[in-house]
Amino acid sequence: MREDIMQVDTVTLDDEKNALVIIDQTLLPGEVRMLSLTRQEDIREAIYMLRVRGAPAIGVAAAIGMYLAALKIEAQTYDEFYAKFMPAKAFLASARPTAVNLFWALDRMEHVVLVNRGKTVEEIRRLLHDEAVAIREEDIDVCRRIGENGLTLLHSGCGILTHCNAGQLATARYGTALAPIHLGRERGWNFRVFCDETRPLLQGARLSAYELSADGVDTTVICDNMASQVMKNGWIDAVLVGADRIAANGDTCNKIGTSGVAILAKHYGIPFYVCAPLSTIDTTLPSGAGIPIEQRPGEEVTEMWYQRRMAPQNVKTYNPAFDVTDAELITGIVTEYGVLRPDYTRSIAEIFARKA
Ligand code: MRU
Repeated sequence: MREDIMQVDTVTLDDEKNALVIIDQTLLPGEVRMLSLTRQEDIREAIYMLRVRGAPAIGVAAAIGMYLAALKIEAQTYDEFYAKFMPAKAFLASARPTAVNLFWALDRMEHVVLVNRGKTVEEIRRLLHDEAVAIREEDIDVCRRIGENGLTLLHSGCGILTHCNAGQLATARYGTALAPIHLGRERGWNFRVFCDETRPLLQGARLSAYELSADGVDTTVICDNMASQVMKNGWIDAVLVGADRIAANGDTCNKIGTSGVAILAKHYGIPFYVCAPLSTIDTTLPSGAGIPIEQRPGEEVTEMWYQRRMAPQNVKTYNPAFDVTDAELITGIVTEYGVLRPDYTRSIAEIFARKA
């Protein structure tokens, strides 16, 4: 199964069973188990527990979840349907606060309901199905384009450092930060990739290292505190990371530890690239200061993965899941529309204008 992980869909809709189908990422790399989820409680739990995770994959899962919720809504009229749709949307939206793709996808689903007021409930359900499928298919296309654009910044044989998992397991396919690497592999390129293990949930060691090595990439796992040393050794030509939310000025929220990597990259003169779709850019926020940062249970730091607790019982814990990297530390933001460069307030506004 190991080599086949690149052939397995991270997140998809089973039309026959009306189910969200995901890989349970909490079990990787030891076990590839697919989950088929139909209940809203289970879909929300899967997002909260990181069974499905990564900003784009969370968005796709939420869109499919919203369609499945719509199937179960009992309503004769449009107004009755909409009145029941909104609490279901709020329920999924409460799963995790930081990745804007969750809210972006749910808003797209709501928009379908809002602009089809004159249609029957049955027709609206069909349109919601099509929108969820479109969000997933668009993600595949967008990630591939991010990969193409990212490849222009790399060369075969180069050394790359990545943090967390912004790979195929975090999207419908290819990934964002790891998309250039997977696309490079398709063309016979080689890379030497260093994966920060990414404390405390080990997305780098468990997930990035898993999918990269399965794709034949020369993969090395390091503890997070070894990044400076591998940079100093001259082994890193570029840093590639993903994003959960990017503010209008380019400040980028990503997995906790990302900002430290960016500061190190600046110190060593290594380019630091954020790879993300436009759906991850939140233009309503002028800077990263307004991004809500998820706080997770302290047990993830003190106990998880250990056979016994590794901190005294009486100490406090602090476990923010994300941090914000200042825009000034970012060499470029690789999107499906090209590589954005500073000044990001200008280049982000321009790219949205071009898209519109
Ligand atoms: O807590 P996670 O595992 O959902 O965090 C994921 C990340 O921080 C990723 O880097 C980000 O979502 C980009 S995924 C393409």
